[in-house]
Amino acid sequence: MAIKAGDTSRDARSRKPYRLLSISVSPYCELVRWVLEKASVPYQETCSVPVLHFFANKCKGGGIDVPLFISNEVTLTEARQTIEYIDSRVPPALMLYPSDSALNTETQRLLDVFFAKLITSVSSFSYSYCLPEKALLMPVITYKAPSWQTCLVDRFYSKFRARMEQSLPAGMHLIDGFRKTIEEVFTEVDGLLKDGRPFLLGDQLTIADISFAAMTGPLLAPNNYGSPLPDPLRIPEPMRVFAESLRSRPAGRHALKLYREHRPRPQLEIDHHPASTTPESRLSYLKSRLIACATGSPVQLKVFAWLRKHKPVCMLGKTVIISRDADVREALARNTEFTIAEINAPNMLRLNGPFFLGMDASETYTREQGDTRKVIKPDESQLITAIAKKHCQALVNAALPIGRIDMVSNLARPAAARFIAEYFGVPGQSETRLMYWMRSLFYDLFINLNNDRSIQISAEIAFRELGPYLLDLIAERRKLAKKGQVGADFLSRMVDMQVKKQISLDDDGIRRNISGLIVGALDTTNKVSTSVVNLLLDHPDWLSQAKAVVDDEIAFRHLCFDVLRFDTMATVMRRYARNDIDIAGVRIPQGSNVFVATGSAMFDESAFPDPQSIKTDRPLDRYLHFGDGMHRCFGEYVNRIQVPIIVGSVVRLPNVRKHSTLLFDGPFPDQFVLAFDAQPAK
Ligand code: HEM
Repeated sequence: MAIKAGDTSRDARSRKPYRLLSISVSPYCELVRWVLEKASVPYQETCSVPVLHFFANKCKGGGIDVPLFISNEVTLTEARQTIEYIDSRVPPALMLYPSDSALNTETQRLLDVFFAKLITSVSSFSYSYCLPEKALLMPVITYKAPSWQTCLVDRFYSKFRARMEQSLPAGMHLIDGFRKTIEEVFTEVDGLLKDGRPFLLGDQLTIADISFAAMTGPLLAPNNYGSPLPDPLRIPEPMRVFAESLRSRPAGRHALKLYREHRPRPQLEIDHHPASTTPESRLSYLKSRLIACATGSPVQLKVFAWLRKHKPVCMLGKTVIISRDADVREALARNTEFTIAEINAPNMLRLNGPFFLGMDASETYTREQGDTRKVIKPDESQLITAIAKKHCQALVNAALPIGRIDMVSNLARPAAARFIAEYFGVPGQSETRLMYWMRSLFYDLFINLNNDRSIQISAEIAFRELGPYLLDLIAERRKLAKKGQVGADFLSRMVDMQVKKQISLDDDGIRRNISGLIVGALDTTNKVSTSVVNLLLDHPDWLSQAKAVVDDEIAFRHLCFDVLRFDTMATVMRRYARNDIDIAGVRIPQGSNVFVATGSAMFDESAFPDPQSIKTDRPLDRYLHFGDGMHRCFGEYVNRIQVPIIVGSVVRLPNVRKHSTLLFDGPFPDQFVLAFDAQPAK
């Protein structure tokens, strides 16, 4: 059966977070909330009164089951499917389903038991006692529900009660059956815990523990259940006595302990996706997209073609555009005349402190860039390949049964974030926060040409968190390095080299350089991979060419970077004319803003013969996607591997095609849902 599509529309400010349509007190909803909050996955919850929830669900393609879960890829109606969907997309360290196959089988068995026996018995048992007590139940079932629903259920409570008793089913005549089933499950769980293990499957907290705790929550009444429960002092005596007996059993104590020690605090309510940065209204979004379309790659490429032919060094007052390949390379090589400090340093100093992408040729540049480069080992490509492949494969695998993947938010962006976590050794307070930091800093440092204050504020908030976070991380890694425990990640190795005095950077120097590296590593990778896939899907002949060479690592890498010429990330490198400079027979006056059009050079026939066709034999070093000269991208050794891996994982999807248009958060791709023929996960 095909899985229902999600909702790809945009929020007022950005792509939508996951949404839950719920009955707040329902253990199914509590379970999904716990799984989301445990992994710090942002979501919005809309609560309804039981019975009336059906109308809200129906409008969004659901039925009677709660929660109805909506992402941009899917709409899911079953809690079990929902927790699997969420878990398979979170960073590996936060996954609740064990990767070990024997443990996984046992987890699934326990879930079968809990879902089949426990959840309905607990709900039906509790409602059987509480439904007759309107005053006891009303605050519970109307929590966060719209006021019209509260009024309606208050006015017609007896009808509501009858409907509930019928559909659950619930009623005093059924109590003994529910009690027996609950006790059976508790006996099984007591048995598992008999050997003193901390969790149901041993030493590892799994989804089985969390499911058990969430499903028994309405009876055991832990203090921090994610929604108000009936007042324990006012619940009917037999229910209270039964709940007390369960609380005192090993299984009950286990569930309460899980609540005390592992139930995260509820998330703050959000009104837009917290990994997005654009403080925009719908109107300003449309305006910026209109400008982006009018000035996007296809238009720029036409303008560049004209400039190359008629005005290769084009001066408009103090703005200069250099568009021919030879002149572009010459300008980037003449780095003492076409300088970068005037362009990049002010913002870098305001936020991060000095970083070599904001420095001109100097002893400091050579030392800092050199110290950073010393960390890269000769066989680094194996580590990069392994990390990039692992995360891409896991993310694509999660999407296979669904037949849809958001190439941005469920592939390129998390793959790049997980790469930063594992390769650079900086996971961030959460993946969402890391994404927010990286995007807002990159936006302000390199693309905030008008010094928009709201973009600056986002970056300042991000930097105030990132700076101390990195210093703590460095201190931690040094403690480990001094004990001889050095991780394989870049930061650990850098700190170890500092301890061994192989580099001269102090802690703040390491912080400045690591943050400079990672800021350049996330949304760049996302943008480039998304652009290549977008271009391939728009050009069936290029896509066929890509499919034909996808398993040939070298040819596919060339193809990706050749396609990228049609929508490269940075079409110009910005420089400042420190003196009057002559180039290609034209005098550029001192103080000019120079746009060195690398995006144009890659269509210059003298360097890229037959530039409109896609070729797999152009030398990689000729491409200018990563700049040229002394500031040529430090991360090129990463991008050459990571970008083709991300793109390749999409190209391999059977019958891959666009499902929705590409949405942006400011200049950054934010959502791009693709469809393909679903197949079982590997
Ligand atoms: C596909 C992704 C990427 C693209 C398109 C890209 C693009 C660029 C470009 C165009 C420049 C030159 C800027 C200029 O000359 O004004 C540059 C420089 C730089 N990039 Fe990247 N980059 C990417 C990924 C990365 C990664 C993963 C890292 C981290 C390892 C990184 C770190 C840097 C650094 C440190 C510089 C400055 C180099 C210097 O000044 O010596 N970039 N990048």
